[in-house]
Amino acid sequence: MRRFIRPHLAFGGLVGTLTPPALASPSALAPAGPDAARVALWWWIMFAIACVVFVVVVALLIYALMRRRGQGAFHRPLPPQQERRWFSFVVIAGGIVPAVTLSTVMGVNVYGERRAAQEAAQPRLTIQVIGHQWWWEVYYPRGGFSTANEIHVPVGQPVELKLTTADVIHSFWVPQLSPKYDLIPGQTNTLTLTAQRAGTYRGQCAEYCGLQHAHMALVVVADAPRDYDAWAARQVQPAANPPAGSVAFQGQQLFQGSACVYCHAIRGTDASSRLGPDLTHLASRLTLGAGTLRNNYGNLAGWVVNAQAVKPGNKMPPMYLSSGELKALMTYLESLQ
Ligand code: CUA
Repeated sequence: MRRFIRPHLAFGGLVGTLTPPALASPSALAPAGPDAARVALWWWIMFAIACVVFVVVVALLIYALMRRRGQGAFHRPLPPQQERRWFSFVVIAGGIVPAVTLSTVMGVNVYGERRAAQEAAQPRLTIQVIGHQWWWEVYYPRGGFSTANEIHVPVGQPVELKLTTADVIHSFWVPQLSPKYDLIPGQTNTLTLTAQRAGTYRGQCAEYCGLQHAHMALVVVADAPRDYDAWAARQVQPAANPPAGSVAFQGQQLFQGSACVYCHAIRGTDASSRLGPDLTHLASRLTLGAGTLRNNYGNLAGWVVNAQAVKPGNKMPPMYLSSGELKALMTYLESLQ
């Protein structure tokens, strides 16, 4: 085990423990689109119902506490008429009212979701989202490019997400933009969402999927349509090749000659494996490790050197690099804008 306390590996652990969370926590009660607004509305309706129930229960409790029955009253049976009255009260308030309320809420909700799905505007854009333990593969069929853990959408346009998984069940949830939709093996679920405000929205896997379920976040960036087009035009491009002899060029050689290529793809090079995230435009992304870290030089270096210290159990092994090699590799990766 001695090699695991090498200083450069400890650096990875330091990165994991000292950096603040990469993304702020979102609230489902601050919706930024009609699909999340529906969920928020239901939250408030159910909250109001729960408040009424709470008030009634507390009132009954106070009533029961205040009522004096006199010595030994608990052992005397109630008069039959009173007994019947209380029995009907329990049946109505404890059985019928909750059953009617809950079935009405559920019925209206299911009907509303169905209607919303039917009325959903024709999507302008389709994006495939594939869940992995523990990251999100995002593929844009129009343009033919992939990103990871980051979905860009144009503001005001309905976007269709085709959701599936490469391994276990995950659940796609961007509280400010969408309801929860499961990603199920062998099945594709379709979710339509529209972002009405430009912004960066944190999403989270909402179905326990293993050790790093909590570190399976994503970010949806809603861009003004012109910014979106510019972003998509950049993503379509293959990675730029660094000039021969430069430090970035050495990094590229190192990348292609090492274990990196067994898992990652960089379009425009020979690296084309799809086991891990596509790195073609890695440096343009906001986070690393599915929302675990901000994407900056130090965090990326820590992640490359020892991703296990940051996110134990993920499939990326530690890399044993000299400081010169790390610098070259980092220069190359940072050039992947
Ligand atoms: Cu994926 Cu939890």
